[in-house]
Amino acid sequence: MLNRFITLVIASLTYLLVFSANVSIANAADAERGEKLSQTCLGCHGAPGLRNPGPVYSIPMVGGQHAEYIVTALKAYKSQERSHKTMQAQASNLSDQDMADIAAYFASIKGESRPAHVSSAKKARGKEKAAQCATCHGSIGDGDQPGFPKLAGQYQSYLAQALKDYRSGERDNAIMKGFAAGLSFKDIDDLSAYFGSQKGGLSGTKSRIKASYFSKSED
Ligand code: HEC
Ligand code: HEC
Repeated sequence: MLNRFITLVIASLTYLLVFSANVSIANAADAERGEKLSQTCLGCHGAPGLRNPGPVYSIPMVGGQHAEYIVTALKAYKSQERSHKTMQAQASNLSDQDMADIAAYFASIKGESRPAHVSSAKKARGKEKAAQCATCHGSIGDGDQPGFPKLAGQYQSYLAQALKDYRSGERDNAIMKGFAAGLSFKDIDDLSAYFGSQKGGLSGTKSRIKASYFSKSED
């Protein structure tokens, strides 16, 4: 237990060091240029409720997400550290400047978040389990530390898929592997329901946000 804790602390510190190094070399980001570059992206990320074909889960919301985390994610697709083939292809031609600009645009989107409705019993179970996630993600998943993704209001099916992928090693991240390893599928279900049902400023992207989106029941 102590060993696992120490490993996690070391992993977290390494992550923060690498992460701050990345940030210090980036140029100033241009959100307007990012908006132009991200037209293709919006075909998926701005189309609410659109799903990944297999395994099936909702394509994550990136509106309102931390810019720094978005850049980290895009770099991980480009280097093929994250295994999703379509996103690897999408990121493959982006320069560091393109990524910074797109991330600035996505982060600036202030959509209304419309979290999923889940049973209060499930939410209560999820809340209890979420205490261990709060240091990094914030107690409702809308934490303001830029390297740790916001979870609040994210699609439940995407949150669950991410946790399963960390658990199986499909998504390789030293910090999250440690946390996901200790979760059962029921824990994953409860945690995804809890975070997915919080209001946290994540949103589908601006150009596609329509009344019809909010009237649909989202997962
Ligand atoms: C064909 C649909 C599609 C297109 C087009 C697309 N994406 Fe994605 N994107 C996805 C899917 C599916 C995932 C989740 C992949 C996974 O599980 O790792 C994803 C994940 C991401 C993530 C990680 C989100 C997170 O919370 O970890 C970012 C950032 C992202 N995409 C940005 C972009 C950008 C920028 C573009 C355009 C250059 C783009 N995407 C184009 C489908 C798409
Ligand atoms: C020590 C800090 C830390 C703690 C504690 C932590 N996480 Fe994370 N989490 C991270 C980091 C860093 C990432 C981004 C990893 C990556 O790039 O794939 C992440 C990513 C995630 C993602 C993927 C989000 C996305 O948009 O793709 C989910 C879901 C998640 N964490 C859920 C949890 C849950 C649930 C807990 C508690 C059981 C937890 N985390 C505890 C640091 C932490």
